[in-house]
Amino acid sequence: MAKSPTMAHLEPVLGKRSIVTAQAEQWKSLRKQFNPGFAPSHLLSLLPCILDRAWRFLEILDRHANTGDEFTLDELCINLTFDIIGAVSMDVDFRAQYSKSEQSEIVSLFRELITSYTNPTRSAATAWGISGQLRKLQRRKLARQIDILLKEHIKQKFAESALSSEETPKKKPRSILALSLQDITTLTPEILSQTADQLKSFLFAGHDTTSILLQWAFYELSRHPRVLKAARNELDEIFGPDPSPSVVRDKLLSENGDSLLQRMTYISAIIKEILRLYPPSGSARLQRPGTGFNVSLPDGTSLCLDGVIVYNCATIIHRDEAVYGPTKDDFMPERWLGNTDTSMQTNDQQPGPDNKDAGSKIPASAWRPFERGPRNCIGQELANLEARVILACTVRRYEFTKVGLGQIIRDDNGEKVVDDMGKFAVERPMFNKMQVTAKPVDGMRVTVNLAPGA
Ligand code: HEM
Repeated sequence: MAKSPTMAHLEPVLGKRSIVTAQAEQWKSLRKQFNPGFAPSHLLSLLPCILDRAWRFLEILDRHANTGDEFTLDELCINLTFDIIGAVSMDVDFRAQYSKSEQSEIVSLFRELITSYTNPTRSAATAWGISGQLRKLQRRKLARQIDILLKEHIKQKFAESALSSEETPKKKPRSILALSLQDITTLTPEILSQTADQLKSFLFAGHDTTSILLQWAFYELSRHPRVLKAARNELDEIFGPDPSPSVVRDKLLSENGDSLLQRMTYISAIIKEILRLYPPSGSARLQRPGTGFNVSLPDGTSLCLDGVIVYNCATIIHRDEAVYGPTKDDFMPERWLGNTDTSMQTNDQQPGPDNKDAGSKIPASAWRPFERGPRNCIGQELANLEARVILACTVRRYEFTKVGLGQIIRDDNGEKVVDDMGKFAVERPMFNKMQVTAKPVDGMRVTVNLAPGA
């Protein structure tokens, strides 16, 4: 099946030759070129820059904890993940977590571009298609500006990498961009354009999704005292009783940092469960007409999907009672213990009725936030790594309190009310809205406190 052409409107964001929309041989060659940069062993070498960007995030949270003010986690987490994707994909400091005047120009241009998709003006002019045309022109202009900046950056990194391999062969730059350029001897205009498109795609696909994962994780942890306690116990066991982020950072950067990350099985189960309940994005496939592609339906009949765009709705699949039972809507990380693996190796299996992940009763194809098969998410290891590192640094340090929608009910004595499932009760549940991705409807408005003992 081919990628559905429904993403054509995203061309200004992704570029013409994006890995996200490329087909057949062109896609295969792009995937081959960029896969090494997303391999777990390579990503681990980028741990210092992930921790470096996480540090700024902690400073901002500390500031909010001091003032006690209300803020949206969406903004903070988006800025954090944008900074991380900038660092790991193209070795640049976007300074998205700093004031507007200090941010890289790419950040403001990219933001303006994304906003043009998420904030359509509803006016009489829209009805006549006038503002629609203007918006298209505006998007193209922003895309051109971003393109120029990215190409300048690629040229500079290409020159630096040629120099570093001559002068200090061991000190090669390690970004995903640098790795993809290492076998290239001449930076032709074609390679330059194609590489700029992939960087745009990584920036787009690699920040909002991970930010949503973090926001829901912080929220669900704030509602489930039992899960929060178990997560903190695991971190105490792995990193020792001192919850200071600097202790966690030093241990992660030590020689056995990788094995500490591997031991974070409960935290990984939390990540897996958050992605089950709140998958941020989805995918669609188009079966070309005339290819005779038939699927069997549960009643034994057959359905031809030629010429049909098929959309796998992960939210429905992930809450199937036949698979997840009566707790399908509950946040229960324990259901994944024994199978917290989310790696590409297991995730690129083709789904089938007997294809169950080791140690689990849950069929592998029933969990697909990164989709499955060869065309699955190239950045899933990076998302998992980011989430584990950030949760390791924050879970014992902060306590978040939701404000407004999804706020916890308190009794007459001001105590949080616990429901039958042992979680804190809320009056009106939080939910996602559709804004390119599926994201918390109010931007996840919270206050934050330092946890006792932090
Ligand atoms: C929680 C975080 C993330 C989620 C839930 C997610 C989800 C997805 C999904 C559902 C797809 C579509 C796969 C398909 O069509 O079969 C996808 C593709 C993709 N994702 Fe992610 N993603 C995440 C993080 C990232 C990150 C950090 C990057 C970093 C660059 C990234 C880059 C991409 C790219 C380039 C593709 C296209 C892959 C291809 O067609 O070969 N994603 N992602």
